[in-house]
Amino acid sequence: MAIERTLSIIKPDATRRNITGAIVARFEEAGLRVVAQRRAHLTQEQAEQFYAVHRERAFFEDLCTFMTSGPVVVQVLEGEEAISRNREVMGATNPANADEGTIRRDFGESVEANSVHGSDAPETAAEEIGFFFSQIDIVG
Ligand code: CMP
Repeated sequence: MAIERTLSIIKPDATRRNITGAIVARFEEAGLRVVAQRRAHLTQEQAEQFYAVHRERAFFEDLCTFMTSGPVVVQVLEGEEAISRNREVMGATNPANADEGTIRRDFGESVEANSVHGSDAPETAAEEIGFFFSQIDIVG
């Protein structure tokens, strides 16, 4: 199994409820390690750029408004098969469809306010990590 890195965002609904520690604990319990972490308040431009792949989707504007509505925690998670492991721990995008014991099932409020984002593939992980972090920020 390969050691990978993936980009994780703890979203504004979770920072607002002060549950970032509980969410990080889920990643750590799943064998993922936080190797870079920063709190940030995204600008409209940053949110639009980060989610550019969704630009044509009906929810794009609301998504960007939500993602700029409060602070987020951006982090790099490292571990065996970190990209797919992170997605398992997060659960389905819509908390209503997420398996029991996943972060989105236990903490998500709605498909938009679903507490966490995670990269979906090796190429997007590299791109998304580079969006927020320099190599020097990542300490494994
Ligand atoms: P995320 O993994 O951050 O990637 C894009 C986000 O768009 C997704 O999580 C959801 O929070 C958000 N979103 C809002 N509405 C929808 C929708 N109808 N379908 C999919 N994603 C949505």
